Amino acid sequence: MKLHGTMRIEKNQLYIGGVSVKTLAEEFGTPLYIFDEENLINRATSFQHYFRSNQFSTTIYYAAKALSNLYVFGLIRELGLSVDVVSEGELYTAVKAGIAPEKICLHGNNKLPRELMMALNYRVGRIIIDHPTEFSLLSDLCRERQQKIDVLLRINPGIQATTHEYIQTTTDDSKFGMNTADPDIFALIQKIDADPYLDLKGVHCHIGSQILDKNFFVEEAEAILSFVRQVKTKLNINMSEVNLGGGFGVYYTAEDNPFDLPEFLTEYISVIEKLIEKYDLNINTISIEPGRSLINDSGSILYTVGSVKYPLQGRPYVFIDGGMTDNIRPVLYAAEYEAGLANRMNDQPDDIYRVAGKCCESGDVLIQEVALPRPKTGDLLIVPATGAYTYAMSSNYNRIPKPAVVFVNKGKTALAVKREDYEDLIRNDMPYTS
Ligand SMILES: Cc1ncc(COP(=O)(O)O)c(C=O)c1O
Repeated sequence: MKLHGTMRIEKNQLYIGGVSVKTLAEEFGTPLYIFDEENLINRATSFQHYFRSNQFSTTIYYAAKALSNLYVFGLIRELGLSVDVVSEGELYTAVKAGIAPEKICLHGNNKLPRELMMALNYRVGRIIIDHPTEFSLLSDLCRERQQKIDVLLRINPGIQATTHEYIQTTTDDSKFGMNTADPDIFALIQKIDADPYLDLKGVHCHIGSQILDKNFFVEEAEAILSFVRQVKTKLNINMSEVNLGGGFGVYYTAEDNPFDLPEFLTEYISVIEKLIEKYDLNINTISIEPGRSLINDSGSILYTVGSVKYPLQGRPYVFIDGGMTDNIRPVLYAAEYEAGLANRMNDQPDDIYRVAGKCCESGDVLIQEVALPRPKTGDLLIVPATGAYTYAMSSNYNRIPKPAVVFVNKGKTALAVKREDYEDLIRNDMPYTS
C-alpha cells in the first residue's frame, strides 16, 4: 500500500497527520473517513502556484462534487480557491460555508428553474449554459428580474479521452454541452452574445475524469482555443475566458501512473500561452476545475474487520463494517484500490484476499484482490486514496447510517461531519396511520 501525504508508520501502526489511526478509530468509531489536511492544502497550493501565467489570469475552481461539506468549503475559502457546483445543494452548502458567491460557478446539464433562481439570488460569478433551451430559460429569468449575469457556454469538442466510459464527457453522444460540430452552435453563441442580460465571457469544457495521459489535455486546449478563434473569425465575437475543466488522473493502485502535477501544470500553461499567440486571441482568464486530483489522495476510509470467510471457491473474503454505502465506486465503475491493516503495517502478507462490505448484495466487494497479513477480527483495514467521490456518493442503502468525516493535521483532529444515528435515518419518514 502506497503511503500518501503525511502517512507514516511507527511501531507497526499507521499515522496520518501525526495522529495514530488506531486512536482515531477509538475516538470516532469506524467506518471513518479520514482526511489529511496538510496533504490537501499542499495539493491546493500546488495548483495555485503552478497554474499561473504572466499573460492571463488563472482561476482554480475546486470541483465540489468530489466532496462537499461546510468544513471542506471553509478550508477552500481560506485557501482562496473558487468553487464549481452542480446543484442547489452544493451551492447552498458553499454559500453557507462563506464562499463568496462571485467565486462560484454553476454547472449542470439540466439546471432546474429554481436552481437558476437560487444562483441569480446569490449572484454567483458564472453560470455555465449547457444547451439552447437552458439559454432561453436563463434569459427569460434574467429579463423578468432585470438582472445581468456572466455566462460561459459549455462546449464538447468530441474528444474521447481514455478512461471509464461513465466518466467520459466529450464523446459525440455525451449529455453535456454543445458539440462544436453541431451546426446550431454558432447561432446559439450569437443569441447569447446579443442577449442584453447575459454577458458571454467565453466557453467551458471538461473532457472527463481520471485521465492519466496528459496529451488529452493538450488536445483539449488546442480544440477549445481553435474554436474560440473560429468564433472570432465567423461571428466577430471575442471570448475572453476559457474554462478547461478538471479530470487530472490520480494514483489508486500501482497500475496508475499519474503525471507529475507541478511539471504538467507548468507545461500546460506554456502550451496555452503558445496557442493564444498562435490563434491571436484576447484571452484574459483561463480556469481549471480539479476535483479528484485536489482531494483524492488526502482521504482514506477506515474499517474494522469482522471476520474472514473461506468460500468453496475463490479468494477468502475479509468482511468489513462498511462497503458500497460509503464507497460505491468499485461497484459503479470497477474502481480499484489498495488496502492495508493500519494496526499491523509491517506484518507480511500471507494471502490474497477479497474485501467485501456488509450490504445485502453479492456485488458489494470493495477490493477484488489485495495482499494482506491474515486479518483478525478487530483489525483496522484502511483504504487510502478515497477522498473523492466516496462520501459524496454515499448512501443509506440497507438503512446503514453514514460514517463520520474527520480531518487530521499536525497531531490535531477536527470532526467535519458527524456520524449519522438511527434518528437521522427516520427523520423524514412519516408513520403509517390507519
Ligand atoms: C464540469 C466538471 N468540472 C470538473 C469536474 C471534476 O473532475 P475531476 O474530479 O476528475 O477533476 C467534473 C467531474 O465530473 C465536471 O463534470
